[in-house]
Amino acid sequence: MSSLDVHRIGGRIGAEVVGADPRDPSVFEAVNAALLEHKALVFRGADLDDEEQIDFASRFGALTTAHPTVPSVEGQPNILPVDGEEGIRSNQWHTDVTFVRTPPKVSTLRALVVPPYGGNTLIANSAAAYRDLPAELREFADRLWAVHTNDYDYALPRVNPEKAAEYRQVFVSTRYRTGHPVVRVHPETGERGLFIGGFAQRVVGLNGSESRDILRILQAYVTRPENILRVVWNPGDLVVFDNRITQHYAPDDYGDQPRRLHRVTVAGNTPVGVDGKESYVIEGDEARHYTPAAA
Ligand code: SIN
Repeated sequence: MSSLDVHRIGGRIGAEVVGADPRDPSVFEAVNAALLEHKALVFRGADLDDEEQIDFASRFGALTTAHPTVPSVEGQPNILPVDGEEGIRSNQWHTDVTFVRTPPKVSTLRALVVPPYGGNTLIANSAAAYRDLPAELREFADRLWAVHTNDYDYALPRVNPEKAAEYRQVFVSTRYRTGHPVVRVHPETGERGLFIGGFAQRVVGLNGSESRDILRILQAYVTRPENILRVVWNPGDLVVFDNRITQHYAPDDYGDQPRRLHRVTVAGNTPVGVDGKESYVIEGDEARHYTPAAA
């Protein structure tokens, strides 16, 4: 394996890869190993174009299409436009697309246009959050399952609320509900992590208010400052994170200034809980149109 110059940038999550070109396939094994260890990697000034981002992401495995319901960048079926002016402002903690049975394993984000202030991305280490839980809560969480859905009462942003409302309609144009373990065992490292975030709306067997209380307590461990990396973007930066064991959040703090990223995601497997049971579809479908891993 070729060696990689990797500098930790967060206490518990995140590293910057220095002096290696993400276009270079010979560094992939080392990049993958660094990703498993640090969970989020930043390549400053990588300056990839769309095709190069697709090539980079493809080294991790087969790609998903851009999204189960949201249209891709024109002519680029694997690229999701993340455009603040179009009302796409992900200011809730989430793991990408957990409302389907096989959410992406890896997400790549590339900055095209960055506001002069704000518009950062926060990424949280959900394995560290799990380890932080008191033993009694950890054992409790190990037994829980949650229902994840794309259809719930999102708050609309103050900037461009009409665009955001249109976007939300498209987002929920097919309703998905999936049962996932609250504690997911990482398929490559065996680490346990809290697998919840914004799409997790209900704990199986509990009512709405009980679910909210339990999820709030667990989520508070994910969003502890110790567990978070803040990425301050420059145009051309590339970030990759392990979607199986992280959550992320894009603060909506840049007003009406433009912010545009391109996202490419890699197909993931079916999550497995501590008891070895696999996630299951409740409503919607296997999203085969979206991810080859569902087949
Ligand atoms: C996302 O949720 O994938 C987008 C993150 C961002 O806008 O920084």
